[in-house]
Amino acid sequence: MNKKRLPLIAGNWKMYKIPIEAENFVIELDKKVSSFTDREVLVCPTIISIPRVSEILRDSQIRVGVQNVFYEKEGPYTGEISPWMLTGLNVSYVICGHSERRQIFGENNKTISLKIQSVINCGMTPIFCIGEKSEEREKGLTFSIIEQQLIQGLSGIQTHKLVIAYEPVWAIGTGKNATPQQAQEVHSFIRKKLSEIYSKDFSEYIRILYGGSVKPDNIDSLMAQPDIDGVLVGGASLKIDSFARIIDFKV
Ligand code: PGA
Repeated sequence: MNKKRLPLIAGNWKMYKIPIEAENFVIELDKKVSSFTDREVLVCPTIISIPRVSEILRDSQIRVGVQNVFYEKEGPYTGEISPWMLTGLNVSYVICGHSERRQIFGENNKTISLKIQSVINCGMTPIFCIGEKSEEREKGLTFSIIEQQLIQGLSGIQTHKLVIAYEPVWAIGTGKNATPQQAQEVHSFIRKKLSEIYSKDFSEYIRILYGGSVKPDNIDSLMAQPDIDGVLVGGASLKIDSFARIIDFKV
């Protein structure tokens, strides 16, 4: 495989799987993917499954991530958890600003930026999600929306630990994925913006994932694109066979 950056295949389980299902899943998955050294595999279960899943995967190649955090360390924030509370739990990644968080829970670039900073402060890597809505794409606003999300979300963030996930909102959970060419076009734009915000060297090192209806039958063509460094998978990461096939992508 001729990829400059270590591919990252991440499963976002959203609000699916009770703890015993999550545990059994990772035990099975670990058997299937333990031989891969040229790609990184990540699962993001619900928070209630994190302690057990982390324990099961402690000596595994599979990494553990969470789907959301609040940015304060502790305090009167009913229902929230902080990145600080995850330290010691073998959590490597935190998804920040998923479009479902933006749309259903009212998150904006400012709060997402605070979350990114707080995740970095606790030694974990944020997976910063950005993407345009369908009407924005139709109006030709894709690039300006992406640029705004990047500039506002990364404002003041100095780090060497960052992953970006480009997830066009119209492709999430709809079965309508961006074509590899559409995704590549936006990924290369994101890399150019990262080189302006940071530096060319930094932008070459950052992984940019694609997300939105990734399936076994489109993974290979997506991963063949030069600026697609991995994927963030929702629905197709819930079944062991489809997730294992996505992990086993071929370029
Ligand atoms: P999907 O979700 O693969 O089910 O479209 C992707 C995501 O929300 O990260």
